[in-house]
Amino acid sequence: MKKVCVILAVAAISSLMAADGNRIYASKCFSCHGDKASKQAMNKSQIIAGWDAEKTVKSLTGYKNGEGGPMKAVMKPIASGLSDEDMKAVAETIASFK
Ligand code: HEC
Repeated sequence: MKKVCVILAVAAISSLMAADGNRIYASKCFSCHGDKASKQAMNKSQIIAGWDAEKTVKSLTGYKNGEGGPMKAVMKPIASGLSDEDMKAVAETIASFK
């Protein structure tokens, strides 16, 4: 029984350490893209809920590199603050929003 507890604790800790898309979304994206990415950020962006993770990663990488739409200056610092792993994690979270 003790062993099981240790294993569970280790699993819980490592899932906290891994990039957590939900947490990233809630802390860095929610304020503009809204609940479950269902809003146009600042009435400008496309609605990104359900976007393919690959498409979101591509878009974020573009912002990092200075590409994007007329409001890209808003997204650049945000995208630049994400590691590749964070991007993937948050993109998967967004893909799961319907
Ligand atoms: C301060 C408000 C704000 C925050 C916070 C924000 N965004 Fe955005 N986002 C925007 C705006 C404005 C655009 C449209 C930019 C443009 O013109 O290209 C946009 C565009 C996007 C796009 C492309 C959609 C399109 O219209 O092509 C993606 C993908 C995206 N954001 C993802 C994210 C993710 C992921 C986060 C969190 C890590 C995030 N955004 C945080 C405001 C924000």
